[in-house]
Amino acid sequence: MAESLLSTIPGTRDLLPDELDRWHLVEDRTRDIFARYGFQEIRTPIIEATELFARGIGDDTDIVGKEMYTFRDQSGKSITLRPEATASVVRAYLQHSMHREAGATRLYYVGPMFRHEKKQKGRWRQFFQVGAEILGSDHPAIEAETVEMVLALIGSLGIQSRLQINSVGCPNCRPAYLERLRAELRGDPAAFCEDCRRRTETNPLRVLDCKVEACQPRINRLPMMIDHLCSDCAGHFQRFKSYLSGADIPFEVVPRLVRGLDYYVRTAFEIVSGDLGAQNALAGGGRYDGLAEVLGGPPTHGFGFALGLDRLIMLLPASLGDESIAKPDLFLAHIGEEALRKAIELARQLRRKGLRCCLEFEGGSLKRQMRMANRINARHTLIIGGEELAKGLYKVRRMSSSEQREISPDHLADYLLGRE
Ligand code: HAM
Repeated sequence: MAESLLSTIPGTRDLLPDELDRWHLVEDRTRDIFARYGFQEIRTPIIEATELFARGIGDDTDIVGKEMYTFRDQSGKSITLRPEATASVVRAYLQHSMHREAGATRLYYVGPMFRHEKKQKGRWRQFFQVGAEILGSDHPAIEAETVEMVLALIGSLGIQSRLQINSVGCPNCRPAYLERLRAELRGDPAAFCEDCRRRTETNPLRVLDCKVEACQPRINRLPMMIDHLCSDCAGHFQRFKSYLSGADIPFEVVPRLVRGLDYYVRTAFEIVSGDLGAQNALAGGGRYDGLAEVLGGPPTHGFGFALGLDRLIMLLPASLGDESIAKPDLFLAHIGEEALRKAIELARQLRRKGLRCCLEFEGGSLKRQMRMANRINARHTLIIGGEELAKGLYKVRRMSSSEQREISPDHLADYLLGRE
């Protein structure tokens, strides 16, 4: 039987008006804070050539191997719904020759990403990220400043989180380390699960991220990249840590922290929250100096992160944002045709002055209309009946206190705007 047409595809959901008030609050806060750090918004397409992600993220990753929504379009071209936006931003940066401009380019994005992952709390197949990318700088201070910016955003929303950092080395020091790691893994296959044994050959760094209980004791004894960095990587990591300390940002070095995308070199980080359960990463990112070249561009330094908005919003304190939620300023209740016409005219005048006004054209009893005013959380209700029309004064009720006043049309806007 066909799946019901009246339900969303598993792993996707509708965001309803009541929830979106909180999303708007977070998005507004993001734009405000990111602008303070000099970031400008970029919007790239949701569909891109499959090859962009396959090459950018890496063929051996879970994302490219199992999770992408890929299809052929009418012309036979392989298209993918973006599973992340870093590869897209780097493509746009190169396509529009931003690399020819002086200095670092700071870009941010907000939007949906798509991954066909196993369903779990905090994990969606369409989810939203805000992310930021800095192209054209390899300074560790820019990394610390960017981490400071994400933490400022998360902290400003009243959410507790922890910063975890690591260095995943570079093309100078990583190959030798990977050989060492492989040798250990091959030497003790019985200690590892099937996935780890496969990854030994394809992507051994990912073994460090295995969650299977039985593998943990042996994984903890494996050599770690952080102990095998070349002197340049070690120096870079040292400076990154000192800039974090200079900004009073606490951090934990987690040698097992490897990211699920292949483009990282040197600095990698995650911001986690204990309140999220198994999917505890709120944000993740790092340096990706080789990515532009992999995509066919010139050597370009890159650093960035993405923050999961669905997870962030799950953690928002319930009280947050109530005062900034876009409630209507006024609901206009009316009794009779003449009152309806007056209400329509008043609403039009007040909207021109910037007030949010609502009325129900069907009208009905006053009781029914008051129920409607409550349902939409109007701050005030105005009542127009025969008596009010005759006097030219309207009863206005402040819904929070039930205080009621008679107000002339000339003073209405000032009263609603709190100026009287
Ligand atoms: P990522 O670690 O794959 O990194 O994703 C970043 C964040 O997106 C995660 O920490 C999580 O909060 C959220 N997220 C990921 N998958 C899901 C999902 N299925 N459901 C809900 N939330 C999810 C990246 O995407 C990189 N592009 C980050 C980056 C930018 N690195 C450098 N620049």
